[in-house]
This record gives sequence, C-alpha cells and structure tokens, in this order.
Amino acid sequence: MKKNLIVFGTRPEAIKMAPLVLAFANNPNFITKICVTAQHREMLDQVLEFFEIAPDYDLNVMKPNQNLYGLTATIIEGMKSVLEDAQPDYVYVHGDTTTSMAVGIAAFYYGAKVCHVEAGLRTFDRKYPFPEEFNRQLTGKIADYHFSPTFVSKENLLKENTKEENILITGNTVIDALLIGVKKVNETDFTNTEIENLKIILDFSKRIILVTGHRRENHGEGLINICSALKDIALNYPDLQIIYPVHLNPNVVGPVNELLSGVENIFLVKPLAYAAFLWLMEKSYFIITDSGGIQEEAPSLGKPVLVTRDTTERPEAVDAGTVSLVGTNRDVILEESKKLLDNKAYYQSKSILHNPYGDGKASERIVNFIKEL
Ligand code: UD1
Ligand code: UDP
Repeated sequence: MKKNLIVFGTRPEAIKMAPLVLAFANNPNFITKICVTAQHREMLDQVLEFFEIAPDYDLNVMKPNQNLYGLTATIIEGMKSVLEDAQPDYVYVHGDTTTSMAVGIAAFYYGAKVCHVEAGLRTFDRKYPFPEEFNRQLTGKIADYHFSPTFVSKENLLKENTKEENILITGNTVIDALLIGVKKVNETDFTNTEIENLKIILDFSKRIILVTGHRRENHGEGLINICSALKDIALNYPDLQIIYPVHLNPNVVGPVNELLSGVENIFLVKPLAYAAFLWLMEKSYFIITDSGGIQEEAPSLGKPVLVTRDTTERPEAVDAGTVSLVGTNRDVILEESKKLLDNKAYYQSKSILHNPYGDGKASERIVNFIKEL
C-alpha cells in the first residue's frame, strides 16, 4: 500500500489541500497521514474545523511576528521526526509558502517523492511576490510530480525544462473546496454564528465592497495607500459599506486599525472562517484584494476583483475580464472603484460568471494519477 503524507501550514494551503485530504480518506490503496506545520494558528484551525480534519502531526511553529529565517529552519528541523515516523512514499505540498518550500526540502532529504499541488504559477520575477515566487520556483525544482491548475501553469514548467510526463493539468483544488463549501453553507440545517453576526453588522440592502490584504511587498507604503483609497471610497459613497476581515499579521492589523477605524461605513472584523467568507463574497458587489486564492474564487462567483498588485501569476482571470490589476496607487484604486460603482455596463462586463480555474475534480485527478504510478 502506498503511503502519503499531506503537509500544509497556512489558511490558503489548508483550504486548497482539504479536498485532497478528503479524496484520499478511506481510499483502500493508500495510507494517508496529515501534518500541519501551523505556520498559521487561528487562521489554520478555522479551516481544519470547517472541513473536519484532525491532523496526525502538528509542528505548532507559529510565533508572533515570525521571520522567514526562523520559520524556514524550524519547519525543516521539525519535519525530520515526522518523516521518520510516517515513512511516506509521497509527500504533498501546496503552492508557494515557506511551509511548501521548507517541507519540500525536508521531504527531498528524507527521500520521498515530492508532489507539488498548484504547480507552475509564475511571475518570473524572483522578488515579486516575495518570497512566494522564489518558494514556488524552488519547490518546482525539488518536486517529482507537478499538478498544474491550468494550461498556462503547465507551459511555465515546460519552459523550465520540467519533464512533460511528470506534469498533470488538474484544475485548481480551490474550486473543489469552493464547491464543497458552497454545498455545506446551503444545507438547510447549516447555522453559523459569524454569518448571523454579519447580518447584524451590515445592511444587505446596500452595496458591499469586500476587502482583504496581506502581501509582504505591500506592507508599509502600499498598505497605507490602499487604506487611504478605501477611506476616500467610503467618504465619497456614504451609502456603501466596506467590510474588511483583517489578516492577523501584525504588519497588517496594526496599520489598518490605525488608519481605518472610526470611519462610519468601514467595518473592520477578524479573519472570517471559510463558510462565512464564502457567504460574504457571494453577497458583495465587488472585491478589493491582493490575495491569490480570492482571485481564483471570484470568477466562479461572478464577482469583479480589483487586485492591489502590479503583476499576477494568475493571468487567466485578467484575460477573462473579472480581475483588474490596480497596484497600490490610491488614485487608480479610487478611479477603478468609481467605474464599477457608477457604470452599470462596465460592472456587468466584469461580473460574468466563468471558470478558468477548474471543475471541482482536481483532487480526484491527483489521486488517480498517483494510484497509477
Ligand atoms: C503567509 C505566507 C503567504 C500567504 C499567506 C496567506 C509565507 C512567507 N507567507 O503570509 O505566502 O499568502 O500566509 O495568508 O509563507 N498570525 C497570527 N495568527 C494566524 C496567522 C498569522 O497571529 O493564524 C500572525 C503571526 O504574528 C505571524 C504573522 O501573522 O507571525 C505572519 O504569519 P506568516 O505566515 O509568517 O505570514 P503571512 O503574512 O500570514
Ligand atoms: N479567506 C477566509 N477568510 C477570510 C479571508 C479569506 O476564509 O477572512 C479565504 C478565501 O476564501 C481564500 C483564502 O482564504 O480561499 C485566501 O487566503 P489568503 O488571502 O490569506 O492567502 P493567499 O491566497 O493570498 O495565499
């Protein structure tokens, strides 16, 4: 029987690996163990609870305001005993975080086959996004098998001379997660206190802009500009509501609270668990974010997204029209927001439902691929 070890550490990795965990569960061809590095803690636990995943190993590495040096070293060191105990044939890592890169290195040292989920996303600028582009390029070098979400991501890997027979286009597991999540939220007996609280805080007869942001390269000046644009939008459109679930990174939560608290129609809340966040995305008029995962989810929900970055490794939704890159310039964010708010035809051209990132069967394809090896 083949032995799997699935490892993740942050909120987005957990959301995108949960469908794979569920797809391997109870499969008689495999013994599958789950390890969390807990690079995130509360934000990871929210996801584990929603998908009812109980990890076999928990490195519990998160420290307040952690740095890349300590985080990388602690994860590599911590994985040694996990790998020796689980003795996996295959180790699965996701995307571009420090967890993905450090676990990839540890799995290579141990001698397991490294399987990279969400492989091949690239900006080809090693410093942007930082450190994610470096993390995913390195993980791509370490990986034995590459599960690419789209044709473009496969092409990126081929440009780096990755062997074609080791690449499989699967779609993005984020869509598997989205479909599982939406189904759960729509079940008649589903109740959720966060959603009930949102119904109290917000007036859903008014238009809502949903905001998130956390990218390291936006810390400091970029984030200040974004907040300044949000304040302008709020003051220009008093009938509008802006809701911002603020990432727990101290470099985000500090400045955002300082710059935006007290504005009457801006609502700053703690990170929402996945169910409530999906529900709120569905209810919002458009989204302003620098998140990778949200760029992938929004097209499936037909929600326009202003991405507060200069480049993206996810060009598919830009080509399709849902996503617009606005960078961190206050005036550009304001102007683009005004266009979406004031021009109905423009808004409609940006809110067409489409699905460049998958059909919800990515995890099934990964399981079948590994089964055939
Ligand atoms: C990390 C990833 C980034 C990913 C993002 C998703 C790296 C280097 N960065 O960035 O690629 O897009 O997660 O959100 O891998 N914190 C808490 N509780 C939590 C989570 C974070 O308090 O549940 C605080 C802690 O002070 C922690 C800090 O946030 O030290 C930073 O966390 P870290 O994972 O290093 O960076 P992120 O900005 O979250
Ligand atoms: N998300 C969530 N609660 C929030 C904000 C985001 O559950 O308050 C989800 C969102 O639906 C997406 C993922 O978290 O699936 C994105 O995570 P994040 O933006 O932290 O990371 P990135 O995708 O940029 O790596």
